[in-house]
Amino acid sequence: MSQVQKSEAAASCLEGRRILVVGAGRSPGARQPAANGNAACLALARAGARVACADRDLEAAERTVGDISEAGGQAMALQADVSDVAQIEGMIDRAAEALGGLDGLVLNVGVSHRTPLSGLTPENWDAVLNVNTRAHVFCAKYALPRMAPGGSIVFVSSTASRRPGGRNPAYETSKAALSAICRAVALEGQPAGIRANTVVLGLIDTPMGRAATQARPDRLAQPMPFGRQGTAEEVAAAIRFLLSDEASYINAVELPVDGGMSAGIVLRK
Ligand SMILES: NC(=O)c1ccc[n+]([C@@H]2O[C@H](COP(=O)([O-])OP(=O)(O)OC[C@H]3O[C@@H](n4cnc5c(N)ncnc54)[C@H](O)[C@@H]3O)[C@@H](O)[C@H]2O)c1
Repeated sequence: MSQVQKSEAAASCLEGRRILVVGAGRSPGARQPAANGNAACLALARAGARVACADRDLEAAERTVGDISEAGGQAMALQADVSDVAQIEGMIDRAAEALGGLDGLVLNVGVSHRTPLSGLTPENWDAVLNVNTRAHVFCAKYALPRMAPGGSIVFVSSTASRRPGGRNPAYETSKAALSAICRAVALEGQPAGIRANTVVLGLIDTPMGRAATQARPDRLAQPMPFGRQGTAEEVAAAIRFLLSDEASYINAVELPVDGGMSAGIVLRK
């Protein structure tokens, strides 16, 4: 296969796939840096998928749909607040009905209140865990029976699941739990030919990443792989791969998208 044919194959690797992305919005005005969900939706649509973009903020989801339409792709927006379990089944149903089934699910939604142990309350603990962990369990539970063989689920986790540097125990715990949830979903999905994998993100330059840096300026003071943060587009490429048939024998893995940070590969100035 020539180089040109190879890049054409990658560009259409999700042709006709029906994919729901949860946490798919974009903030007003700001296209750069892109949020992970927005960049993933665009990358999937550019690879030929029809994408249902779900977010608690309908206008944010509609902005992503607008970006996809501008790029010549097909997408629809859905409003759902997944911290409320009662809204999850309806969201999955609406996406599956509108797309005519589901081949892929990207659980990108995540929140962080950056509260240290001393400031934790049952309420702020639940607020993070309900979105970052409970929602993922129930999204997967309701999506699995709707998914076609060859389908793929991608969980979006963080290197915070492996180290406590952010003094953010609810977030760190919620992301660590995704590893076990992903394995459970992979086991349940296997008889139906459905895979589940996790991307473990390092420092990514998104609006959420910038907010974290504002709250904790030392976040970027540490040595970084290649001397920079990752981009949402680099995250999107990994998600696209895991959703595609190119990853057909890759199941229940945690793929770091961190430039090598968790392996200690950092550039010291
Ligand atoms: N940016 C980073 O450095 C970084 C690092 C590691 C992991 N991550 C993970 O990447 C994912 C996306 O991060 P981002 O930086 O693009 O953040 P973001 O805040 O820009 O995106 C999250 C999206 O989820 C939506 N959302 C939040 N709560 C919701 C709810 N209850 N129901 C439905 N939608 C809801 C938001 O409206 C937003 O559109 C998160 O899971 C985050 O933990 C980010």
